[in-house]
Amino acid sequence: MSKVLFVCLGNICRSPLAEGILKSKLESSRQSQSIFVDSCGTGNYHIGEQPDPRSVANARENGITLDHKARQFTHEDFEQFDHILVMDSSNLKDVKKLDPKEEYTHKLHLMREYDPIGTGEDVPDPYFGGELGFQQVFEILDRSIEGFLQEVKPGVSK
Ligand code: 4NP
Repeated sequence: MSKVLFVCLGNICRSPLAEGILKSKLESSRQSQSIFVDSCGTGNYHIGEQPDPRSVANARENGITLDHKARQFTHEDFEQFDHILVMDSSNLKDVKKLDPKEEYTHKLHLMREYDPIGTGEDVPDPYFGGELGFQQVFEILDRSIEGFLQEVKPGVSK
């Protein structure tokens, strides 16, 4: 089974939404058994919390139920996951700091490397913005995750 981990800063806005979107896509295509999906944050501010109510509301408007408790990224995640998809360059820097020997660089990718109309730029942090920000983030994530599935085919064994 392939394992995918989404990473942001707080693990309450972007990465739990990404987790919910991928799980929903897998359920729709009856592939839930082929990919394990989780999310976490580089920071420790919100450990144990449910996703931000604005992320929950946005997901619901898009037909997705979020169910996640925030946790912090740990070194063990490098071993546990096959694909570690980070939301922005700051997340990438923070995760790379935990891998000084660069053993896991091949597993690390910016989420928007897979955005068909993006070039690896940041998924904007909607935490300090308004509702519109959350829908923009949803659309970026939806496209990027679709791109990831098409390009990487994570559930298909080689
Ligand atoms: P996230 O958003 O990284 O997408 O979960 C944030 C959540 C909380 C904070 C920053 C970003 N914070 O500073 O508490």
